[in-house]
Formats: sequence, structure tokens, C-alpha cells
Amino acid sequence: MDYNELINRAIEVSKNSYAPYSKFAVGACVFTTNGNMYTGCNFENSSFGLTICAERNAVGSAIAAGETQIRAVAIYSPNSEYCYPCGACRQVLNEFKSEEGLDVILTGKDGIKSVPLEQLLPEGFIL
Ligand code: THU
Repeated sequence: MDYNELINRAIEVSKNSYAPYSKFAVGACVFTTNGNMYTGCNFENSSFGLTICAERNAVGSAIAAGETQIRAVAIYSPNSEYCYPCGACRQVLNEFKSEEGLDVILTGKDGIKSVPLEQLLPEGFIL
């Protein structure tokens, strides 16, 4: 699978991040088994705990569009190399992983890393 387009969209949407408190911008783009892409950026709040991560924002857009299975997610931050998803986002991604699994695509100066979600969240909880 060619992840360049997914990464480019994650880079582009990270520019819309609303992160006045942490100053840590993040963009994400999910790729569904229907072949569609959905983006999201993080947006923070004065009440800090209400912050929504880029990954969960992107997943929400995919679900709202009627998607059910996510095959991959690209995550990008201009503030950090290889921006791994937080624990909460790993659990949310796990809920919508495709039958073939879900690849987490990360970018850094040594290139692109593709890590299976299963490696980041082994034996994730699911009802
Ligand atoms: N953040 C994300 O958007 N995704 C992650 O996986 C890590 C953290 C955001 C949340 C917050 O706005 C900022 O990065 C610093 O934690």
C-alpha cells in the first residue's frame, strides 16, 4: 500500500491544529477499507481535559461518513518525530480496525515507519 497521500493529508491538516496551550500540533488521516481518507487535527480547550486528539477527530469523521473499518492511520506532528498515538487513541483505533488489521504510519527524518496497531496495543480490550 502507498501511504504517501495519507501522510501528505496528515501534514496538511496539522496546520489547522488548535493547540494554544501545549503548542503541540498533530494531524492524522485514516484510510478505510472502502478506499476513502478522512483527516483530523487536535483541538484543545481551556478546560484541558476536553482536548481531542487528531486521531480521534479523524476517526469521528470517518464514522460520521458511514465508514466502519479502518485499515491505516498516518499521524504527523511538526513538533515531534514519529508521533505515536496516545493510549486513548490506540483504544479508539482498536474499535474500528479492519479485518486485515490497522497500520499506524509515522514519519521522521529517517523515513516512514509502519507499525501494526497490534504491536502498540497488544490484546486490546473489545466487547
Ligand atoms: N495529541 C494528539 O493529537 N495525538 C496524540 O496521539 C498525542 C497527543 C495532542 C493532544 C494535545 O492537544 C497535544 O497533542 C499535547 O498532548
